Formats: sequence, structure tokens, C-alpha cells
Amino acid sequence: MSDAAKKFYVTTPIYYVNDRPHIGHLYTTTVADIVARHHRLVGRDVFFLTGVDEHAAKVSDAAAQRGLSPQQWADKNAQVFRDTFARLKMSNDDFIRTSEQRHKSRVTQYVSQLLDSGDVFAGEYEGWYDPSQEEYLPETKAKEHNYKSPVTNQPLVRKREKNYFFRLSQYQDRLLRLIEHDNNTFVQPDARKNEVLARVREGLNDVPISRTGTGGWGIPLPNDDEQTIYVWIDALFNYLTTIDTDDRIQYWPADVHFIAKDILWFHAVIWPAMLMALNRPLPRQVYVHAYWISEGQKMSKSLGNFIDLEKIDQYVSDFSLDAMRYYLATQGPLGATDADFAHTKFVEVYNSDLANTLGNCLHRITNMTRRYFDGRLPAQDEPTNRVEHLRVSAVTAAKDVEKYLNVLDLRGLCENALSIVRAIDACIDHTEPFKLVKDPSKRGQVGMILYTCAEAMRIASLLLWPIMPDKAEEIWRRLSCNDYGKRLANGGTGELFQWMKWGQLEPGQTIHHDKALFPRSAP
Ligand code: ME8
Ligand code: MG
Repeated sequence: MSDAAKKFYVTTPIYYVNDRPHIGHLYTTTVADIVARHHRLVGRDVFFLTGVDEHAAKVSDAAAQRGLSPQQWADKNAQVFRDTFARLKMSNDDFIRTSEQRHKSRVTQYVSQLLDSGDVFAGEYEGWYDPSQEEYLPETKAKEHNYKSPVTNQPLVRKREKNYFFRLSQYQDRLLRLIEHDNNTFVQPDARKNEVLARVREGLNDVPISRTGTGGWGIPLPNDDEQTIYVWIDALFNYLTTIDTDDRIQYWPADVHFIAKDILWFHAVIWPAMLMALNRPLPRQVYVHAYWISEGQKMSKSLGNFIDLEKIDQYVSDFSLDAMRYYLATQGPLGATDADFAHTKFVEVYNSDLANTLGNCLHRITNMTRRYFDGRLPAQDEPTNRVEHLRVSAVTAAKDVEKYLNVLDLRGLCENALSIVRAIDACIDHTEPFKLVKDPSKRGQVGMILYTCAEAMRIASLLLWPIMPDKAEEIWRRLSCNDYGKRLANGGTGELFQWMKWGQLEPGQTIHHDKALFPRSAP
């Protein structure tokens, strides 16, 4: 069914440490976490990387405003990112900071290699610079946005500098072949792929790889001590520096780099071109999601409508971390269109999918088992047609998992798992075990129904684990199948395709009835 033995390397952007994390950072890291967990559950050897980008002017500027050194401010915020991801149970295998020596020394090596390759030359550059993104924009794009930043709307500045340039212009054909033909899912979704292709076809300018005047904040350029390595070049290399060691290099190339649309150009064009210049294998895919907006409006400091760390923590404490993950996974901007983080929608989705569907269904199964069978799982009897139908639904949904995972359809993964839960509810509604139980001669039938429901719930919970690990593990505790949790703890791998085979709950084992998995929330 699938080559479970394969390795899988997944990354998120490394986030600027000029400020604290917000919903956008949490989103990309959660998406990557769900995908990483899914591959581990299947049995793959996964490496999941996230981290922070430190050598940016906006970091040293923010530090200066507070009377701190850039390193002090970076240390403080890097710790907040690290703690936040740990508290929110991200399963990343490493956390890279670009000010770490392991990163700096390897970047220095790669850049020396670029300098030797003939693909770098010293020159002068003049163009429209977006200070908020540390990026030059081509004339057409600058004009199209009225000489304002397409991301922050701040004015662009006309800038001229002496730096070292990478001959990106030499790579146009190879890049077009990569994006268009060789592997036409290199950039996904298609809307982003077409956007990049159109711009690459316009022709490519050589790009600066060094800067002057950073006040020493950055990695020095190996051959010229007036220059530091441009923060974007430094940053992109994180995907390689972290795993460029004897025991990790087998993870390269990355299977997927998750990013948002703001940093598409760097990942889809500059990054592969640099790897070509270094003769390194290329990442398999750059997956580009859109933006979260907040209550119908773009998030901005001036509107004060950021879903910031405080708000995130509030949702987690009011609804649970897994409810937050579920909302991000099912309602997020994974495709090409932005998504709205709206409180009423959150509550609606929570109540309908989690409280009234998943939680309530589990409650029905454990409650009836408690009342009719003393909390012991009844025997697995020959199913009637209606109950056989539920078994088939569960087995079919289990088979579809890889189909959704391969195209990174997280919503499809959730819907697929919930379709089993809905089938359980429909089976209970239709066969009415709560009525049958009144007739002693139907006891075997009631047992058979409950066994099938519990077993289908076991399979649904396996499929839900990557999205809602805490709640899935709680379901396993209630169904007495704790081994899965032990196997998957601390980045361990599973055997999903074995575990999903029908009939693994053992009759007679204890089924725990407990409080609501997702208490209903007042709208
Ligand atoms: O660009 N909705 O860092 P950054 C969804 N350091 N995702 C969002 C978002 C939103 N409204 N806002 C931000 C940088 N993100 C560089 C990256 S990588 C080698 C260097 C997420 O702190 C999304 O993943 O500005 C986006 O690409 C990233 O945060 C930008 O984070
Ligand atoms: Mg940004």
C-alpha cells in the first residue's frame, strides 16, 4: 500500500525574532506537525524542523529601541518561540537558531563554495527596497504596488549598494524546467506555481548575497570583512545546515518546505538556484499556503486585531489544544485563498464537529457499554447487514488516508476520519441498541453492535491522532489500547497499516466511561 520505510523531511520557515509568535507562525508549524505525525504514524523515519531567523535588520532595530544588543533580544524571543512550540506540543526534531555556531560555520562553507564556483561576482545594485521584508522588488512589481510594500504597505526606498551578487540570471532555463516540467508539483498549489512561472519567464536579475552596514549583526562574508551575508541567504541555508552532519544527511533533500505566499520567491526560485550552484539535490516540494485574516480583516498592529500569543493561549485553555489544532487544520488557508479566524465560526465548528459529533459518539459507546455490559467490551458476533455496513465504512476510510496525505489535504484527512464517526452514529440511530437491550434474547445483537462501534471508533481515533494527539490518546485510554500512545511518544513511529486492520479490540477488556471529551460551549 505504501513504502512505510521511507524517510520524510519536513520544514517550516524560520521565523523572525523581532517579535513574539502569532497565529501565522503557529499555523505553519501546526500544519508541518500534523504532516510529520502522520508520516511517523505510518512508520516513516521523519525529521521535522522549525526554528528562528535572527540576523535581520528588524531584529537589531527592535533591540536598539529597547537598549539591548541584537543577540540579547534574539535570545529572549527565540526562547519564547521555542517554549511556545513545546507548550503547544509541536513534535519538531530540532529547533534551529541562525545565531548558533553550527549554522554559522556551515553557511560560511556554503558561501565560500559559491564564491569559488564562479556564480558570484562583486557589483553595484540599485533598486526598490522593501525594508520590512529585507527584499528588493523588480520595477514592475514595485510600480504595481505604488512603490509600497505588498506585505506591509510601508513605502519602498530607492537604494544603491555595493555587494556580491549571485548569477541567478544563469539559472532561468533550469528553474523553468524544474517548476514547469521536471517535477510539476515542485511548487504547490497551482495558483502559486503559475505566479512564479510568470515571473521567472519575465527574466531573472542577479541577486545580492551580501550587505553592508548591518553593524556586525550577521554572518561575515568569508572574503570581504566589510560585508555580511544577506539575511535571506543565511536563512534559506538553515534547511541544510541543521541536517548536514554524518548522522542526519540522509534526510536531505527536504520532502516539503511549508511556507506562506509572502516568501514564495525566495523558496521557489533563489533557494533551488543556490542548491544547483552547490550541486546539491533539490527539495521535492515547496508548499505555499495563504494567509489567516482576523474577523474579516487583515491582521495588523494598528488595528490591534492580531491573534497573538495571549489569544492563542485563551483558545487553548477554553477549548483545548486539540480543538485549536482541529480548527487550524480544517478551516485554515492551506490553499490559495485567505481564511478568516472568526470567533463565532470557531465555536460553531467546535460544537458541531467535536462536541456533538466526536465527543458525543464516544460518549454513547462507552455509556452503553457501561450500562449494558458492566464496562466490558462484548464479543464480536456475526454482524447484521446494517452493522456490516459500518465496518465497511471504517475499513474504506482507513484505505483512503494516503490519498489525502499525498496531496496534503488536511481537511480531507479530518473529514475522512469523521466520516467513520458519523457512520457509527448512523448505525446506532438505525439499529437502536438502547431499545433492543430491553429484549433479553437480543443481547448478543446489542453486543455485536457495540463491539463494531467501538472498533470503528478505534480506527477513527488512529486517523485523528496526527490532528488531535491528546484526544486520540484519551480515546485509546478509554478503549484500553494504550500501546499506540507508548509507541508514538517522543517521536516514535507506528504501524498504521497494521493497526488499522479490523478486529483488534479484545472482547472482555475494560471500556472506561468518563467525562465529555469536548464539553459543549455556549455560542
Ligand atoms: O519571513 N497567515 O519570517 P516571518 C498565515 N524569516 N501564515 C503566516 C501569517 C499569516 N497571516 N503571517 C506569517 C520570514 N505567517 C523569514 C523566513 S525562511 C528561510 C525565512 C507564517 O517571521 C508563514 O509561514 O515573517 C510565513 O511564511 C511566515 O510566517 C513568515 O514568518
Ligand atoms: Mg514576514
